[in-house]
Parts: sequence; structure tokens; C-alpha cells
Amino acid sequence: MAIPATYIQELVARNDIHDTISRYVSLQRAGRLYKGLCPFHSERSPSFMVYPETQSYYCFGCGAGGDVIKFTMEMNSLSYIEAVRYLAQQCGMPLPDEDDGQAKLKARILQMNKLAARFFYDTLNSDAGRNARKYLRDRQLSDKTIVNFGLGYAPAEWQGLTNYLRTKGFTDDEMVRGYLAARNKNGNLYDIFRDRVMFPIIDLRGNVIAFGGRRMGDEGGPKYLNSGDTPVFKKSNGLFALNLAKKSGKDSFILAEGYMDVIALHQAGFTNAVATLGTALTSQQAKLIGDYARKVIISYDSDEAGQKATRRAMEIFEKEDVTVQVLQMTGAKDPDEYIKKFGAQRFEMLLAGANSALDFNLLKLKSQYDISIPEQRVEYLTKACDILASLNNPIQQDVYCSRLANETATDKASIKLQLERARNKSRRQQNYKKEKELLRRGVGRNIKVDYRQKGNTMPKAFAQQQIICGLIRDNSFYSLVKDRLTPDNFTDGDMKRAYIAFTGLVERQVAVDYATLAYHMPAESAKVLAGIFARNAEIIITGKDMQMHIENLLTAKLSQSEASEKSVDEIAQRLKALKEKKK
Ligand code: CTP
Ligand code: MN
Repeated sequence: MAIPATYIQELVARNDIHDTISRYVSLQRAGRLYKGLCPFHSERSPSFMVYPETQSYYCFGCGAGGDVIKFTMEMNSLSYIEAVRYLAQQCGMPLPDEDDGQAKLKARILQMNKLAARFFYDTLNSDAGRNARKYLRDRQLSDKTIVNFGLGYAPAEWQGLTNYLRTKGFTDDEMVRGYLAARNKNGNLYDIFRDRVMFPIIDLRGNVIAFGGRRMGDEGGPKYLNSGDTPVFKKSNGLFALNLAKKSGKDSFILAEGYMDVIALHQAGFTNAVATLGTALTSQQAKLIGDYARKVIISYDSDEAGQKATRRAMEIFEKEDVTVQVLQMTGAKDPDEYIKKFGAQRFEMLLAGANSALDFNLLKLKSQYDISIPEQRVEYLTKACDILASLNNPIQQDVYCSRLANETATDKASIKLQLERARNKSRRQQNYKKEKELLRRGVGRNIKVDYRQKGNTMPKAFAQQQIICGLIRDNSFYSLVKDRLTPDNFTDGDMKRAYIAFTGLVERQVAVDYATLAYHMPAESAKVLAGIFARNAEIIITGKDMQMHIENLLTAKLSQSEASEKSVDEIAQRLKALKEKKK
């Protein structure tokens, strides 16, 4: 499909390259351009540049470069057309492959939604809305709040809205596609929202894109009814009150669970509150929040379900460039109730002390232990230090150590010591992971091969030689090797021949020493083996070593040709030195 050039131009103009890239990369201004760490290769100092003037990017480190479409493709592994579609959705343009019909339908649905919102609002303020007005007043919403959110009331009729929209010229099909009406068995339309207080969902451009409706009594279907996905609305992308929160001018957002929480928060002055629309937080929503806020304070319900959702949300936010804080609310089930019970000021205080994700994890940990029991206290402190090991800021470390010390009446110095241990452990694990990853990607040849007691950076060549040496010195090691290795695991031809000869003999209950083996091998290979024996004469090979070499042989990706004889020798020397030190 050919996309017109004008379409692409508009798409690029509407998706500013700096805004788009800064969702993924933290960018610093440097004169007329922005700099950041390249997302396409790993680096420590920024060589990734974004040029607003030309709407392009380029990395001096790896040569990646292009426009906003190219970036979107690379970043999300999308094809060209997929990236175009994605960006179109981001900026609210009709999709390029949308025929006129689809674009027109969207425009019609938006018009229709606007009229529907108006209709609900007017109904709320009519005789039919008497109960609904009472309901909202009972929930302590002011008139100002009602207007601010455009709240309304869907009448208790089967064809209230439907009839109204017909008089405005909307077709049955449009109403159904827009999720305002449904068809009964006979194909006749009926209103989806009946006898409910209505919450319009408004996007950043001021379009009414969907509705939520709450029943007022205990009966009449689910407590909340929400629009399903329509051509103009995707539930998983939407956020309630984002339009208002964006205008709040605050750089943090409060993320609540429900419509009423958000409304109560705004009314109390917390105009930066948003909520998802009856679904768990999605990564798109997290990204959206990250686009407009530096910090998000998760203020979900205090019940079990809310706390579980909090943990999920924290995980989702991990991928975004936002600071996450978690509100710990006691004495009320949600922000709406909290504000009613204790007032806005107390909530403000709650916000000020909002626990960080770290605090949340520590608190959760603590709740699992009875720290008046010494053993449990020790375990709590050990685990807490594991959590704190991720902190890089020494001041923060110190603060938390003091806090732990106070909390458990333990000497701060010993907590610091434990934290240092935990940090070393975590660093070792990180390094180990990194090296393993390097090996997996086959770039192991680029790292200087080092012998580490636990690592698997050992070249295969060395592992093979050690295994053969070990077997000849102590035939009983065969029991360790037997079920794990076949001759084909030996990539070195000489070692493979040695192994075949060895197994042939040992399976016939023959005691195998070097001479016996040499006799059953080609002369050239036997000679190589002799050299290896000589060079390893002083290395002790234990059963544990054998197991490690087997592991290495099975997992390490280095081949014989990649590890020269010399480096194997070097390794042997190092190993010897190491063993000597241990003695
Ligand atoms: N929700 C929903 N469908 C339901 C129940 C809940 O879509 N049947 C969504 C709504 O978006 C609701 C949110 O989940 O706002 C939180 O639910 P809940 O805590 O039950 O509602 P509140 O917002 O506290 O509303 P209220 O105070 O009116 O009970
Ligand atoms: Mn609630």
C-alpha cells in the first residue's frame, strides 16, 4: 500500500522526535540537540544524539540513525507500516490504510458521543434526574465538580438516548458501533446505559471517547458499566481524567483505582489524579503516565485486591522512566473514603510521606517476621540488606541502615557490614550474569579468558583437556562423566580420540593409564596428550573440578580454535597458582 507523502509529513510533524524518543531514553539538552545513552547498544557515556531541527537521531557509537518512524521500528521491532500505524494512533490521526468510510465513522462517533454527554448532563438537571442529583449530593460532590467532570445521568428508559440520537440523524449502526446502543433479538435498538450516573471519558484533545456508568442502588446489573472498545476508544489505552491531570501543572500523578476516587481527589484539590477504566494497568497506560509525569503515586484500595494490583502496577512502571511511590492508607478503603473521613489535609500528609517502592518492599518483608524473636530478626535484617543492596546512593544506604538499626535495636555498624556483603553478592551475581550473557551471544572470544572457580568462562579446550587428564589419573571419575558426555561433546579431535579410546577400555574393565591409552590411539594424538599431561602435571583435579569442567564443556561456547594453546597454558598456570594459594 502506498502511503501519500503528505500523510507521512503530517505524521512526522505530529510525533515530535524528542517527545517520542524521550519515552524510551532519558535525554539531556546540549545546545541545539539532545544527548542520551543509545538504546541500541550498551554504553556508559552518551553518543546518541537527537536533532529536533531535522527531526532525526544518530548514534556515533553504533551508527543507528533515522527519523521518528525508523526509531519506532527499531525500538519496538515493528515493520514500516506497523510503525506508521502505531504513531498514527499515538497522535490521533486516522490510520493510513483507513478508507474514508472508517475515518468518517470515527468522526461521526465522536460527534455522537458529544451529543450523548450533553444529553446525559441535561437529563441529570431535569426532573428525571432528581434521584441522580440526590445520589451525587449524598456522595458529597459539588455542583462545580459535576460540571468540571461533565457528569450526567442516563434515564431509566430503554430508548431514551437512542430516540434522542435518532432525532439528531444518527443511524442504528453508528449507535451500535459507538457502544451506546445494542440490538435485541428482533434487531431493535435499546440503550446500553440505563438509570446510571454517567462519567464521560475525555481524551487530551477534548473528545468524548467513551463512558462509564454507575448504578445508584444495589440492583440493576454490575456496579459500573463501561464502554467497550470502539473505533475511537481502546480501554487498555485510556485513562480517566488524564485531560484534567495534564492541565494540573504538576509533575507527579496520583493513580487511583476508581472513578469516584479520582473525582473526590480532584474536588479536594488533587487535580493530578487519574485512574484506569475498570481494568488492570497496562504498559500503554504506564507509558502514557510516564509521558506527562515524572513521578506516580499509586493510591489503590487498601484491601487485598488493591495491594495485589499495586504490586503488579509497580512491576509495569519499572520499565518506565518514572519514580514510583506507594501510598500506604490505613483506616479507609480508598482515597474517596479517606478524604471523607479524615479530610484533604491528612491526605496531603499521606502524600508527603508516600512510601517509595523500596519502603513498600521493606514493609512487606517486615510483616513476615516477628522481630522480637532473635532468629527472625536476623533473617529479616539479612533479607532487608538484600533488598537494600540495589541502592547505589551511599547517603540513602546510610539512612536505611539507621532506620533498620533503630527498628530492630541492632548495632548500625553490623547492619552496614551485612549490607556490604549483600552488595558484593549482588555484584558477583550481576557479573556472572553478564559474562554468561556474553558467552551466550558468542562474543566470548573478545573477553580475556580468565579462570574463576565458579564461572563458566573456561574455554572448552581447557575443559576437555582437564577431563581427559582427570580420567586417566583416576579412572573412577568415569562415573561422573559417563552419563553426561558423549564423544561428540569433545570438539577437540585429539581429546575426542582419547575419550573414545578411554571408554572402550574402561567399559571392558581395563585399568587405563597413559601408556595403555597411548597404545590405543593414533601416535600423533598420543603425542599431543603427552604434552597436555606434562603441562598439567602439577594441577590437582578433584571430583568437584571434574563436575565443573563437565558443566563448562556443556555450556561454554568457546571452541578449540578460539582458545589457543598458549591461552590454555596460561590458564593452567593460573589454576596452579590458585590451588597453591588455597593450600
Ligand atoms: N469497576 C468496573 N466494573 C465494576 C466494578 C468496578 O468497571 N463492576 C471499575 C470502575 O472503574 C471503578 C473501579 O473499578 O471505578 C474501582 O471499583 P470500586 O472500588 O468498586 O469502585 P469505586 O471507584 O470505589 O466506586 P464507588 O465508590 O462508587 O463504589
Ligand atoms: Mn473503590
